[in-house]
Formats: sequence, C-alpha cells, structure tokens
Amino acid sequence: MEIAHPPTGLPTASAPGPKGQPFFGVARDLIAGAPLYLSHLADTYGPFTRFDIFFKRFYLVSDPELIREVLVTQAANFPKDDRDVALLDRAIGHGLVSANGEEHKRQRRLTQPAFHTRRIDAYAGTMVEYTEAMLDEWADGQELDVAEAMSALTMLIVARTLFGADRVAMKDTAERIGAAIHVIQAAADKEFQAPLVLPEWLPTAMNRQRRAAREVLYEIIDRLIADRRAQGNAADSGDLLSMLLQSCDEAGDRMSDAEVRDQLVTLFVAGHETTSNALTWTWYLLSQHPVVETRLHEELDGMLGSRPPALADLPHLPYTMQIIKESMRLYPPAWVVNVRRAAADTMLGPYAVRQGDSLWLSPFVMHRRPAFFPDPERFDPDRWTPERERALPKFAYMPFGGGPRVCIGNGFALMEAHLIVAAVAQRYRLHLRPDHPIDLNAQITLSNHGGMPMTAERRAL
Ligand code: HEM
Repeated sequence: MEIAHPPTGLPTASAPGPKGQPFFGVARDLIAGAPLYLSHLADTYGPFTRFDIFFKRFYLVSDPELIREVLVTQAANFPKDDRDVALLDRAIGHGLVSANGEEHKRQRRLTQPAFHTRRIDAYAGTMVEYTEAMLDEWADGQELDVAEAMSALTMLIVARTLFGADRVAMKDTAERIGAAIHVIQAAADKEFQAPLVLPEWLPTAMNRQRRAAREVLYEIIDRLIADRRAQGNAADSGDLLSMLLQSCDEAGDRMSDAEVRDQLVTLFVAGHETTSNALTWTWYLLSQHPVVETRLHEELDGMLGSRPPALADLPHLPYTMQIIKESMRLYPPAWVVNVRRAAADTMLGPYAVRQGDSLWLSPFVMHRRPAFFPDPERFDPDRWTPERERALPKFAYMPFGGGPRVCIGNGFALMEAHLIVAAVAQRYRLHLRPDHPIDLNAQITLSNHGGMPMTAERRAL
C-alpha cells in the first residue's frame, strides 16, 4: 500500500470546524440530531470538517474523491476504529463487520461465495412467498405499524435464507433469535452513543440482559451448526449456512464452528434491520407522493397484472427500483459507516491526516449534497434514470459503503427490497396515520421515532 506523506515544510489545507462546547465538544448537537447536524457541518465548513466529541478529534469527510481515497485507494491505511470494533465485537462477535486487516480479508474470502449472484437469486422465491403470506394476513382498512411489519418480514426472510428456518415450523426459533438480537442491538445502540462504555463484566442491567440474550442465541445457533455438521459438510441445504460450512479457500482454510456462528449472527443483524428500514422509509415516501405512487402502480399492473412478482420480472420493473434508490438516498439505513482510523500519517487530497485521526463518512450527508442532488430534500425517483445515475460521481451515492468493505449483502438487499415493494404495492396502498411526526432516530441504523403507523387500503386488481 502506498501512503502519501505530508510533504514536510509545504502548507497543507487545515480543516475548519465548529468550536463546540467546553468538554462536550459537539456531542450535544450530535445527540440532538446527528445526521442533519452533520449535513449542516458539511454545508458550513466544506469537504473536510474537524469536530470534537469529549476531547477526541474527528473529521467528517464529505467529498466523493476523498471518500474514494479512504474506502478504496488507501483502504489499508484506514481500518475501522478500535472503539467501533470493540463495540461491534461485544454485540455481534468477531465476524465480517468487526474484523480488520488480514483477518477481514480472510473472512471476506471465505464468506463471499455464499453471496454469489446465482446463490442469492435462488432466494427470490422465499422473499415473495413470505411477503405474500404476510399480505394474506392483512385486511382492508387495517392499521399497522409498518416498521414492525417490515422488521418481522425481513427477519423471517433472513432466518430462512441464512439457516433454512421454515416460516411456520421454525417460527418459534426465528422469533427467539429475533428477540435476543433485539436486546443485543439495543445495548449496542446505547453504547455507540455513550461517552464512556462500561466493562462487560460489570453486572449492570444491560450487561446481564445482553449476556442472557447471547446465551440464548449461541445455544440455538450452535445447535443448528452441530446438526448440519452431523449431516456431513458436503450436504447443501441451499441456505447461507451450508455455504459457510462448505467454504474453503485454495489453501484448504475453513471457518471454525465459532467463526461460522459469529458470521451467522453478523449476517442476521446486518441483513435484517437495514433492509426493513429501507422498506419502511419507502412506504412513508410513497404515502406522501401520490404521483410517484400512481406511476409505480401503473408499472406493476402493466407488468404483473394480478400475479405475484418473480425474479425474472425485476429487470422489467425499473421504476420500482428507482423509488428504492431514491428512498435510500434520502434515508440511508446505514446513515454513517463505521468510523475509520488512520494507521499512518497520510494526505487526503490537500489535507494532512495524522496517524490515529478518526474519520466519519456519512451516506446521509453525501446524499444531500446539492452539488450532486439539486434540491436535495425533494423525493424524485427520476434522479435514477440510467443516464442520470451514470453521470453521478462514484461515492456521491453510497448506501452500501464501498471498496473492499462494501456491503456483502448489497445484491441480496436490493433484490429483496425490489420484490417486497412490488408484491406489497401490487396489493395494498399504505396511508400514514394523519399527523404522525417524522422524527429521525439515528441509532446504528436510521429509523423513525414512534415507528410508522399506517392504514392498509386493499387495491382492486
Ligand atoms: C438496505 C440494506 C442494507 C444497507 C443499507 C447496508 C449497508 C451497509 C454498509 C454501508 C456497509 C459498510 C459499512 C462500513 O464500511 O463501515 C455494510 C457492510 C456489511 N453488510 Fe450491509 N447493508 C444492507 C443489507 C445487508 C444484508 C441483507 C446483509 C447480509 C445478509 C448485509 C451484510 C453486511 C456485512 C456482513 C457487512 C460487512 C462487510 C465487510 O466489512 O466486509 N448487509 N452494509
């Protein structure tokens, strides 16, 4: 890896930024409204902004070329920050999301085959079947929290595609896993925002609940792995677990059972809440934009009539995908990627970065840069016609991150969202409960405080 050193003696651009409060720095502003506040910093101070949180210095990088440097060109010099890694380890074990350096490379090599396009395509049937089963339980005029409904649906889909949990037969198991993960995630959300993180051995209520949840989770997953091993490693049940157990690189290296377990937990967590948030925001946006919704219905009715969508239909439903992309522009579920820390002094464009400096990269901020998205607040799926999409610089739009750590479930998530939006919008219109406020809840993922209560109106097919 080549590292650009600051040429000694030559001036480098200094990073401007807010003064912040004594001791707190900008912590209070971030807690009050992190994504919008970060966007404001980028608007006010430019592409490389300095800010402090409790005596620690950070930089917000909000220029596509500089982001490419961090995530791609100089990726090896920008591993994930130690604090993020430690908190992720606590939450989801030492899987792909928390590994760094050579260990990350190895895990990625062994996990990647499970996400091969052909493999992922085979899950389309499950995604539609489970969505249809959910819709069969809805009734005309029913009120529901769409955030909860999408979370339950993506949870069941991920349980099925990860380790073959049948919707009915293994409903209990999937729900127990979901509940345990909910506890673990809530603890992680708190710790990511806390100025001081207490050791895990302290018997606080949160630590005790997390330990209990982890025990439930590990017991179920260890049993699943042991059952599969007992069937013989060569047996392919068609799910991601089979692929992880079979995966072996040229040198004959395989994952241990503990590694497979951490990978399963990682994939379950990373692949569930993110997609359900993307869907929830899409339903919200559609409910506010009837013209877009009508165009969506025309596309779906013209292509599908009354039959459910299938994988082969997706290339013929381009407007549906444009809506999803635009929804993830305005409300990227991963609103900030994990903090990156400079392993050595280097230059980012004209800016000197010192070893140990921590960098924030935010899809939310990038997606609202007026230079790339004029009138950025406006929901406009026509931004995503192929010509306009091609004209965008890479990393102006980055809902899945980029470089060697780009989301491994990118294709899975897009296909899932495409099929679910098509299947639901074909049968129902969703209306937001009048006066329900939109109030961003920026935890590890971006949701709405108070969920998304909506009324389902059955469409005449
Ligand atoms: C709309 C849905 C999703 C969004 C917006 C999303 C977003 C992201 C982002 C931004 C990253 C990079 C984080 C960073 O560099 O710090 C990431 C990484 C990751 N995602 Fe996703 N994700 C989604 C769905 C999924 C799904 C469905 C899965 C798996 C089934 C998944 C598994 C992962 C994993 C394992 C990583 C870590 C990859 C690595 O570091 O090598 N994600 N995701």
